[in-house]
Amino acid sequence: MAEVHFKQGDSVITQGDDGDVLYVVDNGQLDCFKRFSKGADNTYLKTYGPGESFGELALLYNAPRAASIISKTVATCFTLDRATFNHIVRDASMQRRTQFEEFLNKVPVLSTLDQYEKGKIAECLESVRYESGDFVIKEGDHGSQFFLIEEGTAEALKLSSSGQQQVVYKYNSHDYFGELSLLRDEPRAASIRATSALKVAHIDRLAFKRLFGPLENILERNTEKYAKFMKSYGALN
Ligand code: CMP
Ligand code: CMP
Repeated sequence: MAEVHFKQGDSVITQGDDGDVLYVVDNGQLDCFKRFSKGADNTYLKTYGPGESFGELALLYNAPRAASIISKTVATCFTLDRATFNHIVRDASMQRRTQFEEFLNKVPVLSTLDQYEKGKIAECLESVRYESGDFVIKEGDHGSQFFLIEEGTAEALKLSSSGQQQVVYKYNSHDYFGELSLLRDEPRAASIRATSALKVAHIDRLAFKRLFGPLENILERNTEKYAKFMKSYGALN
């Protein structure tokens, strides 16, 4: 890794250029901007700080730089060249991206995210399989994962005041569950049980908070569907 120093306002990456290094921020802050169509103004996207990296897309996809990076303050970055990147990062990262990107494009709740944001989510997902009848989540437990259904069906169950397990929601492929306890820092509000062979992709709490931040309002608004379902299904609350 080589060390590079930038003054405030330096152009570190220019959208459209060829790229052959990835940057890891050691200190300072750098802003990311993107021009979404030819002739349009640059849109501010985000600020990178120590420990974060950027410039991976050109290396992953052998494509021109997809955004511009300008140093906001004096900054120092480490650079990783293409050969080293290919050797230690590319294969693992690419494998996950290709495994999950097609799936993520079919998940309705993610439709407002761009490919870059979905790619970041893809890198953090892990798949797990369950048999019909298995519990994925138990009501009252501490929540540490968010789930997307890759294949199969499941149901949400809540313990009623009379001690019965009641079905309060039904799930199909491309649905999600397990968001409530992460959004609200509360125990799991229901149990989730597989009703067929089930394959889910899960993401941990920290990555969920970081990557699903832009969707928090949508997820909160969507919780209305639970009350609607219970009403139509005749489940007692
Ligand atoms: P790369 O295309 O190599 O160079 C510009 C970098 O900006 C890109 O890699 C990403 O690391 C980063 N970036 C951040 N947000 C986005 C975005 N929404 N679209 C494209 N690139 C982005
Ligand atoms: P969470 O509380 O993290 O874990 C259980 C999940 O069940 C919950 O997030 C929701 O995703 C889902 N769920 C489905 N129906 C309901 C419901 N009626 N009330 C609460 N959670 C529900």
